[in-house]
Amino acid sequence: MRGNSLRWWPAALVVVVAAAVTAAAAGDHNFHRDFDAVWGKGNARFQDGGRMVELTLDEQTGARLQSKDRFLFGRFDLEIKLVRGESAGTITSFYICSGGARHDEVDFEFLGNVSGEPYLLHTNIFSDGKGEREQQFVLWFDPTADFHTYSILWNPHNIILYIDGTPIRVFKNNEAYGVAFPTRQPVHVFASIWNAEEWATQGGRVKTDWSRAPFVATYRRYNVTNACVWDATAGASRCAGGGWMSQRMDWWSWMTLNWVRMNYMAYDYCADRKRFPHRFPAECIIPIGRT
Ligand SMILES: *[C@@H]1O[C@H](CO)[C@@H](O)[C@H](O)[C@H]1NC(C)=O
Ligand SMILES: *[C@@H]1O[C@H](CO)[C@@H](O)[C@H](O)[C@H]1NC(C)=O
Repeated sequence: MRGNSLRWWPAALVVVVAAAVTAAAAGDHNFHRDFDAVWGKGNARFQDGGRMVELTLDEQTGARLQSKDRFLFGRFDLEIKLVRGESAGTITSFYICSGGARHDEVDFEFLGNVSGEPYLLHTNIFSDGKGEREQQFVLWFDPTADFHTYSILWNPHNIILYIDGTPIRVFKNNEAYGVAFPTRQPVHVFASIWNAEEWATQGGRVKTDWSRAPFVATYRRYNVTNACVWDATAGASRCAGGGWMSQRMDWWSWMTLNWVRMNYMAYDYCADRKRFPHRFPAECIIPIGRT
């Protein structure tokens, strides 16, 4: 008995300490402290002590926030309420990107629309500088009426994009089949709003109506409780949280993902025969084993 309780002591202590750290970090999101406004500084308005931020697009500029920390793997969550009413030509985004010539990047880009017409969610994944992996979705809710949680989970096994906890896209680590997967380059987290009227709304046919500016998107509840923070000096990362590093799609996740694909997918590069008349990219055709 005595031997047992002694042996259990250290484990119990570790659990308690880990729980305390997680609890502190979980409630501790702050855009003002954790991000730099790297573009359009005046159009990033921090509120609620930095826990919320409004990014504004007007005729002069948009705005972009970049996380001070870099991460090598992580689960990145935040809540966004998109531009209300007329939003054609605007793009509101949340993404991770390594920068560099052969960059890795995972994108959520919300393409605005004329008043009353739905937003289009454009996603893309770059690995080792190669992108062209677009998937687009319509949403099953009005993203301008309230906040919704958008998440990027990135671990050595897969990248999963979630909306309110529902997986909408998976990019598996298929390095074994010669498809580059991001595992080496630390990323910054970005949030931005910008004008892309040349291509965004209905293929660029609808232009931004500047008489309706400023266009405002609101972000809150940035959460990187579960992530590995990159330490450039040490050339290594410090990881926090448990479980997420080995998280993969289970049976229920595939069921819900297929529900999204069947009902809300607007475009999939892996199904675009016009674009790939001879051969789809490797990750579209290799036996990816949906298990
Ligand atoms: C952050 O996310 C983790 C799980 O990924 C969760 O346990 C925690 O409650 C979240 N914190 C906040 C403030 O939402
Ligand atoms: C805007 O609305 C039209 C009509 O419903 C739709 O076809 C389009 O995908 C929507 N989004 C964009 C960005 O054009």
